[in-house]
Amino acid sequence: VQEKKAIVLGASSGIGRALAKVLSENGYEVGLAAPEYAQLLEVQRQVTGKTYLKTLDLSDISASVAQARELIEEMGDVGLFVVSSGVSIANPTLAWELEQATLKVNVAGFVAMLNVAAEHFVRRGSGHIVGITSIAGLCGSAVYPAYNASKACGSTYLSGLRQRFAPAIAVTDIRPGYVKTPMVRDSKGIFWMTTPEVAAQQIFEAIQKKKGVAYITKRWALVAAALQWLPGSLYEWAYRRFRTG
Ligand SMILES: NC(=O)c1ccc[n+]([C@@H]2O[C@H](COP(=O)([O-])OP(=O)(O)OC[C@H]3O[C@@H](n4cnc5c(N)ncnc54)[C@H](OP(=O)(O)O)[C@@H]3O)[C@@H](O)[C@H]2O)c1
Repeated sequence: VQEKKAIVLGASSGIGRALAKVLSENGYEVGLAAPEYAQLLEVQRQVTGKTYLKTLDLSDISASVAQARELIEEMGDVGLFVVSSGVSIANPTLAWELEQATLKVNVAGFVAMLNVAAEHFVRRGSGHIVGITSIAGLCGSAVYPAYNASKACGSTYLSGLRQRFAPAIAVTDIRPGYVKTPMVRDSKGIFWMTTPEVAAQQIFEAIQKKKGVAYITKRWALVAAALQWLPGSLYEWAYRRFRTG
């Protein structure tokens, strides 16, 4: 039987941590990566199977590329690479430092990590890349302008990789709605929120089915369809009326 090995970036918290647990329960050796080693140790204690730890902070992208490559090297034959790392920074006044911090991690860092995964899978001849983007990538936000734009970039980039590498390398774009994690602690207007555990289970099913795009939970596909057909002007009016009005 071939060993199952997966890497989860952003494994210290929320969706990434819950997914690492599900993967471990399903027989994967899991490489856990995030900025804080102490948090990774804590997750390691909660996971039953074999794990590998790597500190990796996407605010330093060159170092992160080297660390992600090292983790692959240390684990041997990684077949699944999940990027769940991300930040969400409210920035209604458009302070550039905050926009830059979001774009650095969610765009440049995210793409750099997808590229490390692609490079490895091309060499290996097969594999599965999973990026956690968001339903937020389908629309703009007055409060989180860079966050929503960063998620649009993530989804579009993943689509490009899918075109480039299918069918040898599977590419899955996971688009969650609301998941109860530290990221949404201060968010307003939240509905249809699920737990990280339910989200992780549904993400695992999408991975098994090698889906191109999956909404988490599934009912968010309805919102995605509505956003696709809604005139932009109506969406923007509703956003102002209900989120910031
Ligand atoms: N929660 C939601 O409702 C929701 C909805 C749609 C999409 N998402 C997406 O799902 C993904 C996971 O978010 P979550 O809700 O699980 O949030 P979370 O609990 O805050 O987890 C985010 C993860 O990213 C890591 N991270 C943050 N900054 C990083 C950096 N500079 N370099 C490397 N890793 C970094 C965090 O590490 P630390 O623990 O050290 O901070 C943590 O492991 C994100 O991409 C997010 O945009 C979440």
